Amino acid sequence: MKKTVFGRLSDGREVHQYTLTNRLGSVAQIIDYGATVTSLIVPDRNGVMQDVVLGCDSLQGYVDGTAYFGAIVGRYGNRIANGRFQLDGIWYQVSVNDGANHLHGGRIGFNKVLWNVEIPVGSSDPSIRLRYVSRDGEEGYPGTVVLQVTYTLTAKNELRIDYEGTSDKPTVLNPTHHSYFNLSGSFTNPIVAHELQIESDLFTPVDAGLIPTGELAPVENTPMDFRSLTPIGLRIDDPYKQLRFGQGYDHNWVLRDYSGKIRKAAELYEPSSGRVMTVLTDQPGLQFYSGNFLDGKAKGKNGIAYALRTGLCLETQAFPDTPNRPDFPTTTLRPGRTYRQTTIHQFSTR
Ligand code: GLA
Repeated sequence: MKKTVFGRLSDGREVHQYTLTNRLGSVAQIIDYGATVTSLIVPDRNGVMQDVVLGCDSLQGYVDGTAYFGAIVGRYGNRIANGRFQLDGIWYQVSVNDGANHLHGGRIGFNKVLWNVEIPVGSSDPSIRLRYVSRDGEEGYPGTVVLQVTYTLTAKNELRIDYEGTSDKPTVLNPTHHSYFNLSGSFTNPIVAHELQIESDLFTPVDAGLIPTGELAPVENTPMDFRSLTPIGLRIDDPYKQLRFGQGYDHNWVLRDYSGKIRKAAELYEPSSGRVMTVLTDQPGLQFYSGNFLDGKAKGKNGIAYALRTGLCLETQAFPDTPNRPDFPTTTLRPGRTYRQTTIHQFSTR
């Protein structure tokens, strides 16, 4: 485990970068600002080690950026309609930062704060635990939430993310990880040649503000059908209303077999490198976002400008706008209970 200074925030606090290296030579780098994965280096089918996540060259890029590169987002990952919801008969207004809606925790979400770091003892795989205390009222949310996120780089080339959260008042909690993946080895390659499979028969259609309508719609006979491995670019520009709303894919899929146990959620395959990323999770949903808002303006690592659809996110989560949808799997966290999530990004080749 290597620890280096990554930069300094305007209030003088230092930000550190931690480097996890496993026995296979794969590397994950994480900074305590936003609990952000800044690089993830894994082999292609010929053993060539390359970075597969988009990110910024310096701390300032993460501080100023709006793309959530590699971060943990929360308290609520994804959207809450009008930033309003009712809990135990009380209405709450959380910050509105995406048109009329709340997105990814608000103006200063978990991606824009400094976390505390602990190095777990006795873990055989390189691992880092980050902890953030979100105070009562932050961004409009009730209750003080303590969230711990543990990243582990296992000997099987898995980046494992374990979440654990508590609150002293009833609140909502739905954190997720927001890495943009590009398995090709070059961030100038669009992700449309990647092939994707999602363990899902249904998705949650949205309105023009990307808020679910409440319906669970079959993917069958639509461009949302990823039941078998399909090139992302095959149907992305089809004249299909849901794709127009998202300017591409930006939707939540209802994962099969939701029971709280970890199971496969998705597989991503990049034919030129042979890299495969299998995503496993215990969550009910998966947001597949095809990088539609990347516009070449944000300069990333090595000065590369990230053009449209050069990275994609697979965000394991509860469904968007759950606080306003009692029929969706709950995101309510009560005092005395513990929020838990485990998501695994497993890398292999073929
Ligand atoms: C999520 C959202 C997208 C977008 C990105 C960040 O994936 O669903 O609409 O906001 O985050 O740019």
